[in-house]
Amino acid sequence: MDLSITHPADFHVHLRQGALSELVTPHVRKGGFCTAYVMPNLKPPITTTDQALVYKATLEAIEPNVQFLMTLYLSPELTPDEIRKAKNAGIVGVKSYPRGVTTNSDGGIESYETYYPVFEVMQEVDLVLNLHGEIPSNSNIHILNAEPSFLPHLHKIHSTFPRLRIVLEHATTRAAIEAVKACGDTVACTITVHHLELTVDDWAGQSWNFCKPVAKYPDDRQALRDIVKEGHPRFFLGSDSAPHPPRNKSTSTPSCGCAAGIYTSPILLPLTAHILESFGALDRLEGFVSTFGRDFYKVPANASKVVLKRGVNGATFLIPEGGYTLKDESVVPFWAGKQINWTISK
Ligand code: DOR
Ligand code: ZN
Repeated sequence: MDLSITHPADFHVHLRQGALSELVTPHVRKGGFCTAYVMPNLKPPITTTDQALVYKATLEAIEPNVQFLMTLYLSPELTPDEIRKAKNAGIVGVKSYPRGVTTNSDGGIESYETYYPVFEVMQEVDLVLNLHGEIPSNSNIHILNAEPSFLPHLHKIHSTFPRLRIVLEHATTRAAIEAVKACGDTVACTITVHHLELTVDDWAGQSWNFCKPVAKYPDDRQALRDIVKEGHPRFFLGSDSAPHPPRNKSTSTPSCGCAAGIYTSPILLPLTAHILESFGALDRLEGFVSTFGRDFYKVPANASKVVLKRGVNGATFLIPEGGYTLKDESVVPFWAGKQINWTISK
């Protein structure tokens, strides 16, 4: 069986910098995607239009066949004037990380009200606000309730700026799904493919499955699956594919924690087909990986199609156990060593 999918778009991906970027950027295309919405949490973060344009040119030099949609990192340097400049330069969105919740978020924000003048201009010029929807841990907040505890912020920003397009990134809870559904048409939500598969049992003691936000309970995963199965147009794929060197993922040194991030780029489309099929949502694949996100972002598809092929007579396809290597860099994908039912037709 073949499936032809219109111009797939990954609306949340980490493409890093330097040698790691050279390794992972071509994997967007390898994984079946033609458009990539690029996260700005580099070291240092991408906080200006000029930096974003240099970064974009670097990515295009590595992989000319992908359309890169660029974002800025919300920080005090981001002024209303810079927002106008960003819009004119074709930047698509601004990503907000609460301070300290994940990789390279030390410069993240502490109060949203501080940024209301920036949000005002974003609403006016129609730049998208991308929210990492967790609040930092404190005496009452921990990684399992950080996302539900964030949702009042989503509602407040949405009600203050009802025309501002907002994307709640990588939702993991039933509460988040309900919250986005209850908002108006200007609020959407990305869902990762790994959160459609994992629950807490899969990452506790398994560092390769550790990411932020962490996968939650089976009932939460069911809510994510149900909204994908329903084909709700404001819920679409953002892989949050986040490569880290293996030494940072498989650490067993007490003083050194495990890096948050799951790497899915090189296998993304076949993996998404496999996982959607596993819960009866294969007929929603094209909407989830292409149409819904493109409609929300107003990024039309071109005529290109990607063809997926299902193994016949029980044939399956191996996710490389040893991962991928370029010079001194290597990355290990999600489900390394497992077999899946789909591959990209050459
Ligand atoms: O698991 C994650 N990894 N979550 C994020 O929000 C950031 C990402 C990364 O950059 O590694
Ligand atoms: Zn991310």
